[in-house]
Amino acid sequence: MRIAQITDSHIVAPGTLWKDRVDMAAGLAAAVARLNEIAPDLVVHTGDVVDGGGEAQYGLAAEILSELKAPLRLLPGNHDLRDRMRAAFGRQVALSDGPFLNFAEEAEGLTILGLDTIEEGQTAGRLCAERAAWLRERLARGRPALVFAHHPPCPLGLPFMDRFTFRGSELAAEAIQGRGVLRIATGHVHAAVERHWAGTLVAACPATGVQIPPAQDGGWPGFALEPAAIRLHDWSPALGLTVKTVPVEPGPFHPFEADPNADFSGTPHAE
Ligand SMILES: [Fe+2]
Ligand SMILES: [Fe+2]
Repeated sequence: MRIAQITDSHIVAPGTLWKDRVDMAAGLAAAVARLNEIAPDLVVHTGDVVDGGGEAQYGLAAEILSELKAPLRLLPGNHDLRDRMRAAFGRQVALSDGPFLNFAEEAEGLTILGLDTIEEGQTAGRLCAERAAWLRERLARGRPALVFAHHPPCPLGLPFMDRFTFRGSELAAEAIQGRGVLRIATGHVHAAVERHWAGTLVAACPATGVQIPPAQDGGWPGFALEPAAIRLHDWSPALGLTVKTVPVEPGPFHPFEADPNADFSGTPHAE
């Protein structure tokens, strides 16, 4: 079972550039093309699908994502609006009724959860009592679980993004600790950053659009046109969960040897 994650596409109105500079639609389209080559079993977009919640923005995002061959689930980010996401994506965002855009699936012994962590209009994320109860219930059996969410539920050591404190962090920790959660795969911070927290690993994925350099220490917050990436979560009975970070734009490939079946078991050393 291979579950790919993309995040933070921040689509703006058709024919416009994000901050007059970046073609976010091209970034998402490139990720979709790469995903179609990788051919995962499921794709999860962890939010900030569009930049400003506009209908035309969702129309463009839906058009680009309709090219995806694999089944798709979407979670809302702080730049999204739930009603507009429902209107644009229907069952791809909400598998059950209720105010929140959570999803839950079971596949090959793995519980796959999508947790809605937004509070509309706020940059910071939140887990309220209702969503914490939903999470506790889904994790009650303590089976191996992979949880997707837009916001990391804890600080990640990032000077700019940590300013926006997640509300309900203790509720999230209580629901997750000791419940078989292998990983909380998030977006929001536009960088590859990981932290051990509440007995699991919180792992943020790079964006399909722009990145926020994680090593930036203080100073003026900004973005960088650094490589976009996809996270590939590979679940197998033999290995459990293995996670690969795959660049959206692969570099040129060069075989080690002309013979693909060459024997690589020995390591030659120089005289
Ligand atoms: Fe974002
Ligand atoms: Fe965000």
